[in-house]
Amino acid sequence: MKKKVWNVALGELLDVEGVVAEDVVSKSQAVILPAGVSLPALRETRPEIVSLLLKHGITHVKVKSIPAITATEFRTALGSIVPSVAELNPLLTQIAIHQFGAIYRNIEDRAMRERGIRTMMTIASRLPVEIRRTPQITLSLVGAAEREGARLRHSVPISVPIHSINVALLTGYVAQKIFPVWPAFVEACVMGGLFHDIGKAFFPQYVWNGPGSARRGEKIIPGESKILNCHPLLGETLLKDTDVHDPHILGAVRSHHEKWSGRGIPDRLKGEDISISGRIVAVADAFENLTSRFLEEDACRSDQAISTVIGLTNSDFDSRIVRALLSAIGLYPPGTVVSLSDQRVGIVLETKERDLLCPRVLICADALGRRVSPFETLKIRKEGNIYIKEALDDFSKRKLDPYVPLSASSANSVKMRLG
Ligand SMILES: [Fe+2]
Ligand SMILES: [Fe+2]
Repeated sequence: MKKKVWNVALGELLDVEGVVAEDVVSKSQAVILPAGVSLPALRETRPEIVSLLLKHGITHVKVKSIPAITATEFRTALGSIVPSVAELNPLLTQIAIHQFGAIYRNIEDRAMRERGIRTMMTIASRLPVEIRRTPQITLSLVGAAEREGARLRHSVPISVPIHSINVALLTGYVAQKIFPVWPAFVEACVMGGLFHDIGKAFFPQYVWNGPGSARRGEKIIPGESKILNCHPLLGETLLKDTDVHDPHILGAVRSHHEKWSGRGIPDRLKGEDISISGRIVAVADAFENLTSRFLEEDACRSDQAISTVIGLTNSDFDSRIVRALLSAIGLYPPGTVVSLSDQRVGIVLETKERDLLCPRVLICADALGRRVSPFETLKIRKEGNIYIKEALDDFSKRKLDPYVPLSASSANSVKMRLG
């Protein structure tokens, strides 16, 4: 993990991503380089600064890395948008996570497990409503959210419910794109997404995460992680046992690890023989896994995840569904922090389906890295000379901790980013 503030030698100063941490002053106390200046911006606007600093006998500069946008700014930004970009109702998220925890903890107690699954289904039935209400959703659905802290409050790893909720939402968005006038199917897909990994509840955590994650006292049985391959079948059986018989829900759970080419599990089905709900969950699951890896160092940004998923089209995934995912979330999903060709930094608010490279962006920082207030919006145009240079981060993947009560206004608005 990168240190928050570190010393950078002058020779490397302009190669560093970050901002100046403290005013750099001359011997006569004149400020040569003020704190807060963005180094990438400096690289383009004042490359001569290095020789100037050298002339004043300065050899090192304190630099800090800061997120381009803070959590508060992000929420303020979302709140100031009309029409609103939605954020998943935090209360709904919180209830869902607790409920998931209860199911996992009591998986061996049939009565409690069935009650938990039914409650979860009631909660899940709210999600399609949110999906229909909001044409776009910030993707961090539920953020990585200081997983460690949250994990300590639960005996179930927090990543499981978060992953499941994110997959459920992504699945719902894709299903809605493909079958906009079939609400029952969208709802079944959301449920399927929510329960797709429920079969894993029967295994200890170290089996999910690989033998390396076993704690002292946990005995590793060789090949045990292969047992995990049973989770689609176990999950399906569990739901049937709870009187869930909807073929789309069951298909999603059973077939979410099938591959388009026929190399998947458990049935090695090929192409359209795989249930449609299973194909949708497979894409949502992969995308969510890539962007929200439980170990954050492994996570990649949405644009990278999308290209990975696109690369697996026709080997692993149905191309029609990958296209629907793209149009549901855009290349730069709402909530992505982007840097523009003119050095400004903004948050993507919405992307039109036909124009994935040209989203509407909320400008939050100017070319020198200073916050812009009030925020202004900018529509990137194909023919314009301002374009998105790179995605900096999926901000909303990080800090929307469902355990932090939001202000009344943002909590009520349910207006809204999901692994
Ligand atoms: Fe799975
Ligand atoms: Fe999964």
